Amino acid sequence: MRRWTQGAALVRSRCSPTCRHYSVQPQKQATSPSHASPTPPTPRPPPTQAFPTRRDPSALVSHELDALRQSLLGLLGTAHPGLDEIAKYYFLHPSKQMRPLLVLLFARATNGLGSGWRERRWAAECDGAGGRAEELDRPLTRSDVLNDCNPSMPDTTASFSSVFSLIPPAPLPPRPSLPAAFLPLSSAGPELAPGGPGSLLPTQRRLAQIVEMIHVASLLHDDVIDASALRRGVPSAPAAFGNKLAVLGGDFLLGRASAALSRLGDMEVVELIASVIANLVEGEILQMKDVHRAEVPKTGGDAWNIYLKKTYLKTASLMAKGCRASVILGGCAQGEVWKELAYAFGRNFGLAFQLVDDVLDYDAGEATLGKPGGADLKLGLATGPALFAWEEHPEMGPLIVRKFEQEGDVELARDLVRRSSGVERTRDLARAHADKARELLQGLPESEARASLELLTDRVVTRTW
Ligand code: FPP
Ligand code: MG
Repeated sequence: MRRWTQGAALVRSRCSPTCRHYSVQPQKQATSPSHASPTPPTPRPPPTQAFPTRRDPSALVSHELDALRQSLLGLLGTAHPGLDEIAKYYFLHPSKQMRPLLVLLFARATNGLGSGWRERRWAAECDGAGGRAEELDRPLTRSDVLNDCNPSMPDTTASFSSVFSLIPPAPLPPRPSLPAAFLPLSSAGPELAPGGPGSLLPTQRRLAQIVEMIHVASLLHDDVIDASALRRGVPSAPAAFGNKLAVLGGDFLLGRASAALSRLGDMEVVELIASVIANLVEGEILQMKDVHRAEVPKTGGDAWNIYLKKTYLKTASLMAKGCRASVILGGCAQGEVWKELAYAFGRNFGLAFQLVDDVLDYDAGEATLGKPGGADLKLGLATGPALFAWEEHPEMGPLIVRKFEQEGDVELARDLVRRSSGVERTRDLARAHADKARELLQGLPESEARASLELLTDRVVTRTW
C-alpha cells in the first residue's frame, strides 16, 4: 500500500472557548493497489464568506513583494561586476514570487496566535533585541573580517603581505530584558500585542527574501543541468553567461542567503531552511538519469513513489518549510499546532503546484511557459501524466524504465499520454492536494490573509503559467 496522502485533520480540542489548542490527527490513508495511482479528490469545502472580494491572491501583499524584490538586490551586491550581473539576473525579470508570497501570507494569517508572539513583536521594535529591520542588515562580525577584501587596506596584492592587525573586539552591549507585558500569553488568551494578525515582522520579510534567493540559486543550477536555453521567455543564465558562471552565481546566492539566515537569530529556522538546500539537491539527484546507482523503477508503484518523493524534495519542501519557518518567526512555540498546520499546508500546496507544472509541460508550449513544451520527456522524466498513462497502456512501462532513451520513445510516449486520461488524472491529483491544503486552512481564524491563501489553492490548480 502506498502512502500518498499524508494530510492531517485538525480537530479543535475542548479545553476552553478561548484556548486555541488543536490536535493533528492523521487521516485514514487512501489504499491503492500496488501499481495504482491516487484516489479521486475529496469534496471541496465551501468558499469563505467573510473575505470574498479579492480576485488576486497576491494583492494583499503586492506592495510587500515589490519592496522585497527591490531590497533583495541590495543583499546581493558584490564588487565584481560579472558576478553582480549574474547574481541579479533572474531577479530582474518578472517572476511568480510564489515562495515569498506563501511566507508573507502565512505570517499574516498566523501572527498573534503563537504564545511567543508578544516577545517576537517586542524584539521587532526594541533596539538591541535583534529583530529590527536595521539589525537584520547589521553584520555580527566586523565588516573588515566579514567582507572578502579588507576595505582598510589598499587594493593591491602587496597589502596582503603585512600581517593582519589585531583589534581587540568591543564587548557586545547586553541584550535588553523582556518587559513583563510581553511575556508569553497565558492560556486564558488575553488580547494580542499591537499589530497582531495582518502585521508582518522584519524577520518574516527577510525570510521571504531568503527563500526566493534559495529558489533562484536552484534555478541557476537547474538550468545548467537541464541545458535550458530559455527561462520565462528570455535566455537562461547558462545561455547568457555560460555554465560556469551560472553555477557560481547560484553558489554566491546561497552564501548570501546563509548569512542572512543566521541573522534571523532563530536556530530552529536556520536548521529548517538549511535542510531545504539538502532536499533540493536530493530531489534533483533523484530525477537525474545518469547518476550512479540511480533508483530505477521496476513497477508502477515504484515509479509513483520515486516521483512523489522527488516532487516533495524538489518543490514542496521549500514551500512547506518556508511556511513553517514563517510561523516559527511569529512566535509559535514547541507543541503549538500552527507550525504543523503551516507545514502540512505547504507540503500539499507544493505537491499540487508541481503536479500542475508537470501537466503544463504536456499541455502548454513556449507561448505560456516561456520554454518549449514536452521538455520533461526529453530529459528522461516520467511525471504524473506518463505514470497514469502506464496504467492504461502497458507499453509505456519499458519506455519509462529506459527513460525514453531510444529513438522515437519521446514521440511514442507523448502519443500514449494523449490517448490516455493521464493529463486529467494528474490535474485531479493536484486538485486533491490543493483541496487538502485548503481544508487545513480552516484551522486558522478567518482573515484576509487566510482568504488569499484559499484563493491561491484554487489558482494553483487552474493556472496556465
Ligand atoms: C526546477 O525544476 C528546479 C528546481 C525546483 C530545483 C532544482 C534543484 C537543484 C538544481 C539542486 C541544487 C540546489 C541549490 C539550492 C543550489 P524544473 O526543471 O522541473 O522546472 P523548470 O521548468 O522551471 O526548469
Ligand atoms: Mg529545469
